[in-house]
Amino acid sequence: MADAPYPELKKSHTMAHEGRPWTDHKPPPAAPVWGVIEGFGSYHLLLAALELNVFDTLERTGPTAIGPVARLLEVSEPHLQALLDSLVALGMLEQYRNVYGLNDTAERYLTSGAEASMVELIPVAPGPHDNWLGLAETIRSGRPAKPIDDDPSAFYVPLVEGTFTTMLRAATRADLLVRYSSHPAPRVLDLGAGGAPWTIAVLKACPGGSAVVNDLPGVLEVAERMTAEHGVLSRCEFLPGDFHEVALDDGAFDLVALGHVCRTEGEVGARHLVDRAFSALRPGGRLMLADYFVDSERKFNPHGVLMGMTMMTSTVHGFPITNEQVVGWMGDAGFEAVRLIEPIGSQFVYVATRPR
Ligand SMILES: C[S@@+](CC[C@H](N)C(=O)[O-])C[C@H]1O[C@@H](n2cnc3c(N)ncnc32)[C@H](O)[C@@H]1O
Repeated sequence: MADAPYPELKKSHTMAHEGRPWTDHKPPPAAPVWGVIEGFGSYHLLLAALELNVFDTLERTGPTAIGPVARLLEVSEPHLQALLDSLVALGMLEQYRNVYGLNDTAERYLTSGAEASMVELIPVAPGPHDNWLGLAETIRSGRPAKPIDDDPSAFYVPLVEGTFTTMLRAATRADLLVRYSSHPAPRVLDLGAGGAPWTIAVLKACPGGSAVVNDLPGVLEVAERMTAEHGVLSRCEFLPGDFHEVALDDGAFDLVALGHVCRTEGEVGARHLVDRAFSALRPGGRLMLADYFVDSERKFNPHGVLMGMTMMTSTVHGFPITNEQVVGWMGDAGFEAVRLIEPIGSQFVYVATRPR
């Protein structure tokens, strides 16, 4: 790049680079604060775009000028244009002059038919929205005013429907690292199974396998529906009830899945689930514990940290789980060969073996 002709106009000498001329202190940018302020609007404009069917419509039409899109969606054209421009600014659409189209992110995550669709997940992922408005009070009192524990199935049914595609991909890909498919007829225990992505992944890979699928009574019907859709229903036994209390056979399972269930349970509850998994496994059997883990200093994985905060915002016992904690629980329970895998991006699973 050519240098500026006059030294005093050099781009590197701007206030943003050097601070005000009368101070030697360069002020920090306000960008992180604006990022948070705009996060609120960003989330709601994505929700609005989904509600208005923007992404599915553009998938059907291909790149289209704003006028015809507004007419198809039956909305105000200037308002729609502001929304679409915002989605372009956030990297979720492409635009050339007045023509808008899907980019790769929108195609993969924001259309309802996509393999990795997050359309069902986006509205429910932060938990009940009202709990965020009362967060300061939750922090004062140590308990959310309306925890999802009061009516778990109302929250979990749409949540597990929304997370299913991602979790099924993670559980299926985990085989490349865990090799559960090398077992001819594994017996699986899936605690808090949701839509049963772990059961479905293992049973599809192992034609002789069978599973005990547990969840709360109102949620278990999602597992029944999903296992039927994936052709493994006849090899599943459904066990409704609280995973801390339902009767489990000791030493009866080759694999136990604790898929994203520990972070709502508090330390005592999570340890209890790991202990139950240990007792339920045969010697040589393996536990697969998936969650969003936080590093020991609680600052290098913002997604995990914020997921922990999300849990505290909407559940009675929810908390961020550190890697150190989970490895400790597994060691204390008696597990060996503990390792961490990342079957798909940002989805982590601890795998541990009950000694022979
Ligand atoms: C975040 S979802 C995870 C679902 C699934 N395991 C997965 O990996 O996609 C948590 C699940 O745990 C279930 N759950 C929560 N508390 C439970 C309890 N006390 N007993 C049994 N299931 C419970 C919920 O109904 C929900 O299906």
